[in-house]
Amino acid sequence: MKLKIVKDNNPIMRKKSLPVELPLSSKDKELLDSMSEYLKLSQDDEYAEKHHITAGVGMAAIQVGVLKRMFVIYYERDNEVIQYQLVNPRIIESSVKKCALENGEGCLSVPNHHEGLVHRYYKIKMSAYDALTDEDIIISAMGYDAIVLQHEYDHLDGILYYDRINPNRPNEKLPGEELV
Ligand code: NI
Repeated sequence: MKLKIVKDNNPIMRKKSLPVELPLSSKDKELLDSMSEYLKLSQDDEYAEKHHITAGVGMAAIQVGVLKRMFVIYYERDNEVIQYQLVNPRIIESSVKKCALENGEGCLSVPNHHEGLVHRYYKIKMSAYDALTDEDIIISAMGYDAIVLQHEYDHLDGILYYDRINPNRPNEKLPGEELV
């Protein structure tokens, strides 16, 4: 399945995605597999350059124009692959402590760089159906992993990362906030 990434100037990016019917249809599963494959390939420098795409670690269905509450994650950290295909995710716990990526965030749907700290929960627990393992799971994540999950989760509610940057003081840390 060839995927075309929707950019942030398209109003669909601001819509709230709808719950996905379970069990997952084969069409939905196919879409999730294509999205995972896209991320994996995007992290291959040679492939990315040849196809003029940028590397991504997460992608929500809305980013390919599908208004459904599901997203995929794919990246390597400490020689370990972190990957999910999350359907109907929910944030069930979040820490008081906040964190932000030191160099700001990026998004496959956002061609322009937006400077500033994107404030997020430092720790979260997320429940979802994971189509990769065919199981209902609860993920406990902190720091970078928690940021990636929250970024993708935001897409399901039509929120983009730069909405969370303080326009007046973009680089100001919140009290107790950890930079990742
Ligand atoms: Ni994004």
